[in-house]
Amino acid sequence: MKKNILTGIRPTGNLHLGHYFGASRNWIKLQDNPEYDFHLEIADVQALTDHFDDPSKVRENVYELAMDLLSIGLDPKKVHLFIQSQIPEIAELTVFYSNLVTMARLYRNPTVKTEIKQKKALFGNEGESVTYGFVGYPVSQAADITAFNGELIPVGEDQLPLIEQCREIVRKFNSIYGDLLKEPEPLLSSTPRIKGLDGSEKMGKSLGNAIYLKDSEEEISKKIMNAITDPNKIKKDDPANPHICMVYYYHQLIQNPNLETVCEECKKGHRGCVQCKKELIQKMNEFLDPIREKRKYYENHQEEVEKILKEGTESARATAKETMKKVREAMKINY
Ligand code: TRP
Repeated sequence: MKKNILTGIRPTGNLHLGHYFGASRNWIKLQDNPEYDFHLEIADVQALTDHFDDPSKVRENVYELAMDLLSIGLDPKKVHLFIQSQIPEIAELTVFYSNLVTMARLYRNPTVKTEIKQKKALFGNEGESVTYGFVGYPVSQAADITAFNGELIPVGEDQLPLIEQCREIVRKFNSIYGDLLKEPEPLLSSTPRIKGLDGSEKMGKSLGNAIYLKDSEEEISKKIMNAITDPNKIKKDDPANPHICMVYYYHQLIQNPNLETVCEECKKGHRGCVQCKKELIQKMNEFLDPIREKRKYYENHQEEVEKILKEGTESARATAKETMKKVREAMKINY
């Protein structure tokens, strides 16, 4: 029996390197493993919990994200790529799960907690932004996972509390309605959290420090030139510590074959930061070029993207329908 892999991503912007190295690069590896049946959800309903007042942006980002994913090598023949809002069974399942979790537990969820703090910082108070839908999104994510019998969930580190929440809901469901659902397990990549070039612990869109896969050469150049290096290195021939330098960190991430030299020269004071940044810019562009190339193809073949999403969604929905039938039987609402 194949193992079911399920993961999701919100269409709130383009894919950035934090996501790529933290999670989506791993997805591309997993799709080639014949032991897995892989569902990948574009979580537009979840994006609406934060962006309900800007639906055209969410819609635009569904296509942007699909193109990003296809450009990094996602193969729609190997992965069911689908749009959450087109599978009403997920919404239905969310309603049934909402009885199985308390408000207190949702407020204690570390991911929800952090996001409420961010909202407060952004809007001054939680006021209008902490809606029922927002606080409940972990419940809807549990439905995302279980509608497709997700067993392994390849995600970045920030998603662990949401998977734990799903496991609790599954246990509760099974204890009341009978042993039907599987408890999912997270699958972390070897680099589940990626630092920003600005030295912050995480690269993120909302943190304003993201490098996007679709960034132009000029944007890449500007961002890398502003990266944080060892603050003790003042002059170009000062010896420095590459292990606290964001430029070195990114040399490592993109697997610069010249890595050892970069490290040695930096330690000995044989390379200046400007030279080192220029090398990173060049290597980064070499890394991004094939992705940019593929993206251009999909930008010129929108109808192909639409077809991929339509077919992926159809096959995913068939699975969700099967699950829903079993859930309805278990819950005795199969009239
Ligand atoms: N919460 C995830 C994010 O913000 C996206 C997501 C939605 C997801 N549904 C999921 C992740 C199911 C894993 C499993 O990126």
